[in-house]
Amino acid sequence: MALLDLTNDELLTTTRAVRKRLDYSRPVSDDDIRDCVRAAMQTPSGSNSMTMQFVIVKDEAKRAAIGDIYAKCFDIYRTMDGVYAGSIARDTPEEQAQQDRVTASAEHLAATMGQAPVLVLACSATGRLDGMPAMAAASTMGNVLPAMWSFMLAARARGLGTSWTTVSLMMEQEVADVLGIPFDQVQQAVLSPLAHTVGTDFKPAMRPEPDTIIHWDQW
Ligand SMILES: Cc1cc2nc3c(=O)[nH]c(=O)nc-3n(C[C@H](O)[C@H](O)[C@H](O)COP(=O)(O)O)c2cc1C
Repeated sequence: MALLDLTNDELLTTTRAVRKRLDYSRPVSDDDIRDCVRAAMQTPSGSNSMTMQFVIVKDEAKRAAIGDIYAKCFDIYRTMDGVYAGSIARDTPEEQAQQDRVTASAEHLAATMGQAPVLVLACSATGRLDGMPAMAAASTMGNVLPAMWSFMLAARARGLGTSWTTVSLMMEQEVADVLGIPFDQVQQAVLSPLAHTVGTDFKPAMRPEPDTIIHWDQW
């Protein structure tokens, strides 16, 4: 597929969590998926180990099963006060409006995840996080998280939408069982829908100024 005409900065600042503007009726080509994975594999990995793994779910019954698991996990997430997006109060009307949009969008995805034409599950084949020392845990996740973000950038460049999600990790074993993932050896990291977007005009989100999170020379 031809790439969208976006500058580097536009690509970096407009790759949003797309949930309501996913076209569930249009198929995604395997070649586009391979191109996104090819880009993802250019990311760094500890000791050049390249342990990132992508499970691409196109099978309708498996997507439906994962969608059901995701919805169950979201039911739990909805009860988590201070964690659930809808339970977080923001300081200004503009910030609250953005928070409310995120909540409504996340609720929509929870109700429809299994209908996306493709689900992408990014994993790290370096063992389970449970009980790992910090360096090993950082490496396990560090080997997959940048890769998934590159996948999402490459998808955006091709007119495809994604949304980073983690709530399904509350029932990671159930997802592993649906997909035949060896649970003891493979750590799941991110689940995302993948679909063509409805329109390709996405905007930068409202964010605090850089100096609110930069610590010059000292924390
Ligand atoms: C670590 C992490 C976990 C997330 N988990 C979920 C999730 O389980 N479900 C969901 O709908 N969105 C999830 N999101 C997406 C965020 O809600 C989204 O990135 C945030 O609201 C900002 O929106 P934007 O990416 O469009 O700017 C997650 C994002 C990150 C980085």
